[in-house]
Formats: sequence, structure tokens, C-alpha cells
Amino acid sequence: MKETESQIRRRRTFAIISHPDAGKTTLTEKLLLYGGAIQQAGIVKGKKGARAAVSDWMEIEKQRGISVTSSVLQFEYNDRCINILDTPGHQDFSEDTYRTLMAADSAVMVIDGAKGVEAQTKKLFKVCAMRGIPLFTFVNKMDRDARNPFDLLEEIEQVLGIETYPMNWPIGSGKEFKGVYDRNAKEILAFRSVGKVGTQQAEKIEAHLGDSNLDDLLTPELHQTLCDDIELLDGAAYEFDKEKVDAGKLTPVFFGSALTNFGVEPFLADFLRLTTPPLARHASCGVIDPYSDEFSGFVFKIQANMNKAHRDRIAFVRICSGKFERGMDVLHVQGGKKVKLAQSTQMMASEREIVDEAYAGDIIGIFDPGIFSIGDTITTAKTPFTFDGIPTFAPEHFARVSQVDTMKRKQFVKGIEQIAQEGAIQIFKELDGGMEEVIVGVVGVLQFEVLEYRLKNEYNVDIRMQRLPYGFIRWIDNADEIDVKSLSLTSDTRRVEDFKDRKLLLFTSAWNITWAEEHNKGLMLSEVGR
Ligand code: G4P
Repeated sequence: MKETESQIRRRRTFAIISHPDAGKTTLTEKLLLYGGAIQQAGIVKGKKGARAAVSDWMEIEKQRGISVTSSVLQFEYNDRCINILDTPGHQDFSEDTYRTLMAADSAVMVIDGAKGVEAQTKKLFKVCAMRGIPLFTFVNKMDRDARNPFDLLEEIEQVLGIETYPMNWPIGSGKEFKGVYDRNAKEILAFRSVGKVGTQQAEKIEAHLGDSNLDDLLTPELHQTLCDDIELLDGAAYEFDKEKVDAGKLTPVFFGSALTNFGVEPFLADFLRLTTPPLARHASCGVIDPYSDEFSGFVFKIQANMNKAHRDRIAFVRICSGKFERGMDVLHVQGGKKVKLAQSTQMMASEREIVDEAYAGDIIGIFDPGIFSIGDTITTAKTPFTFDGIPTFAPEHFARVSQVDTMKRKQFVKGIEQIAQEGAIQIFKELDGGMEEVIVGVVGVLQFEVLEYRLKNEYNVDIRMQRLPYGFIRWIDNADEIDVKSLSLTSDTRRVEDFKDRKLLLFTSAWNITWAEEHNKGLMLSEVGR
């Protein structure tokens, strides 16, 4: 096998999604520990202090001690080269979080065993489902009192609409937590609490269910429950089906506890066995094979002004085919120009290091003199093509924004347009209106602060911001076929257009969306703009 091909084949690129506090950071950290990428826990997001110390990016990042941008963590494990894409959560939840999922080949969903499927997980899941990528579930915090595992599975199936297949099964939870039963190996992985830093190897015990010596290990009650549960699962639950896993229609579920390091390594081993190498991607000329000799990739995120002195931007590129070599010439298809990729960096935690080579599946950061937009394609292919664009995801918070000093109109418009072009915010205007009044839409409210900060620091413009009562926006998919102005809408629904002139409706409630659909036959609304 050629070197490039074997390098690509051993890559696994995935994102971890979760609702804040479910344990995404803790799990990521434990995975990195196995990969030897870090020596101690607390490095990935040492809360407050540690993070601020390593981050030299935007000033606001330092002030708030949070990450405004997402990065990539790369490490080796069992001859696999693993790229974990960090999806920002908490207050720094933004459209970037969604866009990062466009660069992943699979996703791991972390769920808090006591809470089940929560709001943010639902949103992120939708984006994964839209792409049909494989999804693996880690039900975390089993060392704490958790909900009944059958209820949890049912919730995943009902709320997310995906089939589940438990790979292992928890025996008790909280103080009663005894470990998990591995359904494939028919072994019990015994849990011994050794406190917060519990990194000891869990003990594997061959388990013949019903054998009386398991009573001592598990207590007779838990042993009986386990026997009943497994019988029920084997009889009634979905069969394991790899094709469904690959299509994102069935999620393998693992129970464990990231904090105590329980069940993390078996999860990693099974995950790596089942997840996919870099996937082929759709483009204007058909499907692009990752093993093709031609290098290609697309921009999924733009990070502005990492170094204020140079006003530089970094475009994050997901490599989709072939091999990257530093200094290579590529065609930036949308710009129609050749670009030399001389200053490419790899994002490892919060540090940046220069990369000389990278392969399909990897993410590189390339220097952007202001020419790239989200979704752009770069390639060495003789016949240029473009990858399918990255959709625009519906913002949920809106504000009317104007400059304080009317003399600064020009800077204001330039600034806000550039920031929108990078994808840091979305801007909307009244139908057929100008830029007199700009409506800004964001996915996470921190983006408003970033906007205000950047306009002041980079464009020297103070702004006034008035929050608007809208919470939902929908693109009108068939705006060419209907008369948008004569739609029958509730009085608090507003017609706007985005900077690509696509028509949209702004709603104050989900109820109003239904109203609009019911009163305008044929109106086609969508949550993503394409
Ligand atoms: P996130 O990235 O998804 O937001 O979650 P994070 O890993 O930061 O975990 C949130 C909290 O849950 C942390 O506690 C963490 O220690 C705890 N946690 C994560 N996994 C487990 C688990 O398996 N069992 C238990 N019992 N707790 C878990 P914290 O008190 O908020 O932070 P810290 O002071 O412990 O760092």
C-alpha cells in the first residue's frame, strides 16, 4: 500500500458533542491520557487559570478565561492517528460549533446518566443526523445515581429518532455501581472506586450469568437484575448492524464514568474498531475519494486576528483527499487564484505548531490574507471543483445594531460585513432595505460581545445594540416561487434577507412558525440556509 494511502487509512476524525457539564472535557482528557498526548488531567481546559495562560489568541478569550474558538487535538493510539475536533460549548457555543461538525467523520455523544438527552445535545445531534455520520453514545457519570438504563435508551430513540445498541450494560449506579457487563465478550468489568483520580485498570471477570459466585461480586439483587436485563435486551432490543452504524441510523451505546476513568479505554478500543476512516465527500464533480492523489480540502472555520499586530486570519481546512506538503501550490477555487500554503499550522490544544505534512482526515490552519470564506475549496486537481458548501445554521438570538457616531458609518458597515463574512455573526436587513438598520443573529450570545469588542478594537467603532424578541429564523426555500411580501403572517413575524439575498422569516415563537406554514400553503421553510 502506498505511504499516503496507509496514512489516510489510519486516520479517525471525530467530534465530541454534549450538553455543558455532561463530561465532554473530562472524557476528552482521558482519551488524550491514553494516547500519551498529555501526562496529567486538567490540561485540556484547566478551568480559568490554566486556559488563560496557554491561550494567546483573542484578548477576550483571556479576559473571560474561555475559548472563543475551537481547536483540534491530535494523538496516536494503537497505530491510529486520531483527530478530536473540539466543539465549543458553555457560553462560547456558537455557529462554529455546528460548522466543526461538518469537518468530522463521526461523532461521540456524551450524555449525563442522571439527565439524559439535554437541549444542546439535541441541537448538535440534528447537525450530525443531517450528514448521516456515525454516532457513538457514552452515557457518563454512572458512579453517580443515574436513571434507569432502559429509560435512557428509550429517550435517545424517541427524542433523537435513532436506534440504540448497548455495547455494555451498567450494573447499578451511584454508590451501588458495580461495573458494566460487556455483551460481546460476556465479561464483567468490575468498578472499584479509587476517588477522583481513579486511573487504575478495571478488573475483567468472566461472567456466566446465573452463576452463584456472581452473587458475591454483585449482590444477589443486582445479579438478578442484570440477568433479567440482559435477557430482555437479547430478546427485544435492536440487533447490532454495522451498516446502520455507518449510516448514523443506529448508535452503539457505552456506559461508563469518565471522571473515574471507568469504561473509557474499552470505549476507545470499540469506537476505533467501529468508526470510519476519512469519508468521501460530495463536490460539484461528484464524489471525491480521500485516497485520490490530488490534494483537496475545504475551509470550515475562520479565526480572525489571532495576532492583532499582524491582523492575520487563519482559515481552518479539513483535508478531504491526498497529502498536504508545506509550501505546495494549490488553487483557491472560489477566488480563482493560486495560493502557496507556506505558513500552515496544526492546532494542538491551544498551541500552534508548524506542520510539514498532513493527510486526508487532518485539519490544518492556513494563513489567510483575507481571501477565504467559509466553505471555500482548495485543491491541486487539474480540473477544479468545489465541495458542497457549508450550510448556514439558524441563529437563535437577535439584536438591532447601529453605530454610535454617525460619522463612522463606513467603518461600521465595513467591519460588520467583514465579521459576517468570516462567519462570526450573521447579518440581516429588511426586505429591499439598505444597511441603515442591521439585524445581527447569533447562535450563542457571547458572539454579541465578540462583535462589540472587535468593532471597537479593530475598526474603532462603538455600537449600540438592542436585543430583539425573536428566537427563531427560517429560510424560505422557495422564495422564487411565491410572493414573500404577500405572505399571511402573524403581526410579530418579520420578513428579512441575508447578505446572500436569501429571504427569511423572523419569528418570536415556534407557534408562529406553525401558523405561517398552515396559512400559506406551499411555503417551504428550512432551519438551514443552503
Ligand atoms: P463538559 O466539558 O461537558 O462541560 O463537562 P466537564 O468534563 O467539565 O464535567 C463537568 C463536571 O462533571 C465536572 O465537575 C466533572 O468533574 C464532572 N464529571 C465528569 N465526568 C464525571 C463522571 O464520570 N462522574 C462524576 N461523578 N463526575 C463527572 P465540576 O465539579 O464542575 O468540575 P471540577 O471541579 O471537577 O473540574
